[in-house]
Amino acid sequence: MLTYQQLTPAFGVELSDTTLLDLTDDGLDQLQQLAAERGVVVARGQIMTPSQQVAFGRRLGELFTTPMNFDATPDELLVIKADEKSKRVAGQGWHSDVSSETVPPGLSMLRMEVVPESGGDTLFADMYQAYATLSEEMQRIVERLHARHEPRGHYLYLSGAKRLDELPHAVHPMVRLHPRTGRKALYVNAGFVSRIVELSHRESDAMLNMLYDHIAYNVSAQIRVRWAPHTVVFWDNRVVQHHAAFDYFPQTRRGYRLTVRGEVPVPALAT
Ligand code: SIN
Repeated sequence: MLTYQQLTPAFGVELSDTTLLDLTDDGLDQLQQLAAERGVVVARGQIMTPSQQVAFGRRLGELFTTPMNFDATPDELLVIKADEKSKRVAGQGWHSDVSSETVPPGLSMLRMEVVPESGGDTLFADMYQAYATLSEEMQRIVERLHARHEPRGHYLYLSGAKRLDELPHAVHPMVRLHPRTGRKALYVNAGFVSRIVELSHRESDAMLNMLYDHIAYNVSAQIRVRWAPHTVVFWDNRVVQHHAAFDYFPQTRRGYRLTVRGEVPVPALAT
């Protein structure tokens, strides 16, 4: 049985006394259930090599690959790296990982090796609460709508494609059900969504800006993870958005992310 402390009453947990590499299949299922229910799972002091991380990730499902790794880093790992040459970093701005995929990610797993003396936190926002704290009228409107998700610049580089239009885009319901919990979560993010397909451009921009403000300003539905070397964080992209804080220039921060494919998003309303 996994033991943990809550990070807030509704969102996020930190595991105690858990060595991820020792988890049985049952333990792994508990981990995925915990991520589905609580959005974010933090595990401290997890010593593992990149290959062990990949082997662990494969037990969670099909992994996305990053063909642009230049060194011996396995293709299943995305290197998250910033140093004195970095002008910006991956993951700045609220987003859900590569939601432009037709079958977008479920869990992401980020393992940090080098952290700045201070700063470099990752912020997480709970999309169950984002949905639940909309007025009932607004809930009824958004759950009938769909958004177009398009790949953006950094993803072009990572994918190895030459042009953005070689990469997939997808139309997803704006409110999705988590298959494990059956709960509704808001599923639009500023990182990948270009427009709401049922609305005019002007209406779409206004509604998306309203929802993005609702997500960004709702601090009661957020947590902020402070990293240490060997901290691992799992987040469930179906129900969580995240935002990397780049406040530590010119220090170095380096970690490895893997991303597990989820399923075609289950709409909150049958279509
Ligand atoms: C990301 O996966 O978007 C990066 C998160 C981080 O660097 O904290």
